[in-house]
Amino acid sequence: MLGALSAIGEATARLYAADGARLVLAGRTIERLEQVGADLVARGAAEARSWPVDFAACADPASELERMAAHLEGPVDAILLFFGVLGDQALAEGDPGEAARIIDVNFTAAVPWCLAAAALLERQKAGALVVVSSVAADRGRQSNYVYGAAKAGLSVLVEGIAHRLARSGAHAVAIKAGFVDTPMTAHLKRGGPLWAKPATVARAIKAAAGRPGRPVVYTPWFWRFIMLAVRNVPAFIFHRTRL
Ligand SMILES: NC(=O)c1ccc[n+]([C@@H]2O[C@H](COP(=O)([O-])OP(=O)(O)OC[C@H]3O[C@@H](n4cnc5c(N)ncnc54)[C@H](OP(=O)(O)O)[C@@H]3O)[C@@H](O)[C@H]2O)c1
Repeated sequence: MLGALSAIGEATARLYAADGARLVLAGRTIERLEQVGADLVARGAAEARSWPVDFAACADPASELERMAAHLEGPVDAILLFFGVLGDQALAEGDPGEAARIIDVNFTAAVPWCLAAAALLERQKAGALVVVSSVAADRGRQSNYVYGAAKAGLSVLVEGIAHRLARSGAHAVAIKAGFVDTPMTAHLKRGGPLWAKPATVARAIKAAAGRPGRPVVYTPWFWRFIMLAVRNVPAFIFHRTRL
């Protein structure tokens, strides 16, 4: 689990723990990894190994991923990528450093991890790469288009990997999540029918890992239809909104 300390990552790990899975939890803060790992073992995980790594600063993601897989000593069922930052859109518009940070973490850093995962799963001829993207990838909106652009790049990358893996026995899926109540969105006004809990999104992620043939999954499901509508609103109407 790449970004296991994210709220959505931890909720997903709990579902795998309940199945008695062996987990590698990769994230930045060793103390929190140890805490979350102990909790997952108490919840039924056969193992929850802490793996401290800064995904944006790792010099050799492919070797790092191979070491994680070697630790599990067998075929890897799923490689799940959660790490990301929402960033500050207004700040990014005047500060190239903030724009670069958003692109770097969500896209540039994720690319070599996804490619390394694809190679590993292709070799195994089995397993799933599940990457958490966002509905923000579907249409540029004034409120978060730098983040949306990074997630759009990530989504297309994962769709391409899904195509590459299609006849290999392994598969890949981009999860397009809507609004989720997590630390990433703590500064926003939350609540209402469009907001999901991490546990809801986690169930969709685990289901997608076990179900080949769908390279893009919206979660909750109704976002597929919301984004279909949003993508098709003509610009002369869309540009009158403040979405
Ligand atoms: N929440 C939403 O509404 C929503 C909607 C759509 C998609 N998503 C996506 O869902 C994924 C999970 O987000 P979340 O909502 O669960 O938010 P979160 O709890 O804030 O998790 C984000 C995680 O990314 C980690 N991270 C960021 N940069 C990193 C780096 N360089 N190295 C290692 N870890 C790094 C953070 O680690 P630290 O704790 O060390 O900072 C944090 O654990 C993200 O990709 C996000 O874009 C979220």
